Amino acid sequence: MAENILEIKHLVAGYETRLGSLLAVDDLSFSLAKGEFIGIAGESGCGKSTLAYAIMSLLEDNGMIFSGEINFKGKNLVGLKKADLKKMRWDQMSMVFQSAMNALNPVLKISDQLVDVMQAHQKGISVKKARQKAAEMLELVDIPVDRLDAYPHQLSGGMKQRVMIAMAMILNPDLIIMDEPTTALDVVVQRNIIKKIEELRIKFDFSVIFITHDLSLLVEISDRLAIMYAGKIIEFGQAQRIYEQPEHPYTKGLMNSFPPLLGDLEEFGGIPGKPPDLLKPPAGCRFYPRCEKRMDICHQKMPDLINTGQERQTACYLYQGGHK
Ligand SMILES: Nc1ncnc2c1ncn2[C@@H]1O[C@H](COP(=O)(O)OP(=O)(O)OP(=O)(O)O)[C@@H](O)[C@H]1O
Ligand SMILES: [Mg+2]
Repeated sequence: MAENILEIKHLVAGYETRLGSLLAVDDLSFSLAKGEFIGIAGESGCGKSTLAYAIMSLLEDNGMIFSGEINFKGKNLVGLKKADLKKMRWDQMSMVFQSAMNALNPVLKISDQLVDVMQAHQKGISVKKARQKAAEMLELVDIPVDRLDAYPHQLSGGMKQRVMIAMAMILNPDLIIMDEPTTALDVVVQRNIIKKIEELRIKFDFSVIFITHDLSLLVEISDRLAIMYAGKIIEFGQAQRIYEQPEHPYTKGLMNSFPPLLGDLEEFGGIPGKPPDLLKPPAGCRFYPRCEKRMDICHQKMPDLINTGQERQTACYLYQGGHK
């Protein structure tokens, strides 16, 4: 078994709001092995970005980690000084943001933005060397070197996204978190970028946490999948096995919510209703109000995420002595 690069234990994170504390990530635990690709899927508002920002220590001002541990390369990041965390960002772990296309500074050339990241972390590196590295990175993501001095608005959406991926990789981090990096792009560009990420990951052996609401996309590229619902992981395991045999009724619903990327456009439905308000989540299983298979016990107590098979975990009473 490869060593774990990231071990998250009982993480609780969220936001202080006028109406009280909102727990967008509520008692989440999982680990990521070196070189592994974990996909995180779930509907809008289930806490995916909050998890990503918590790991990166980039939560907004009203955001905070309430409890738990984020062990990265054996060191708990929760409670570390801001300056120490800042040193690690880009260098050891980096992120491609949900709105990556807008994350580039519109008034700076691509070259300057890449050079800035390098100079901030590698003291004393010359502009010439940094530019050379920037050009190499662009080449890796299939952007012609003559675009090095382009401004963001001179690039297509897909190119900007690839610049962000180049920037995330430029300091050779161990972990890259990608938060919906391809959602705004058309399917062909999306697939090209996914292929590129996969190729680069194999070449440079970084670990990836890839977040999207599009489960069908994740199944193809992830080693393991975490399905999130209302701040909780409700199913976790090998991507292919979850795809072939989803256990949690929410996972099944999510699977039917998207047309497959390949093959026939089968009939696809959706899950009626919407996720709960995280300021006042329902008692018991948070999916209870929308679940077709709900039983009496489900609204009494949240089911634990328990092993239901080989390296497979599901939080559902159907798999805890209940009937399937
Ligand atoms: N700054 C904030 N203050 C208060 N609540 C917030 C803040 N940011 C996010 N939230 C709330 O936290 C919950 C989780 O949001 P988050 O952005 O993590 O979800 P997500 O799964 O990434 O959704 P999406 O797929 O739409 O990106 C939501 O209920 C959201 O409204
Ligand atoms: Mg998000």
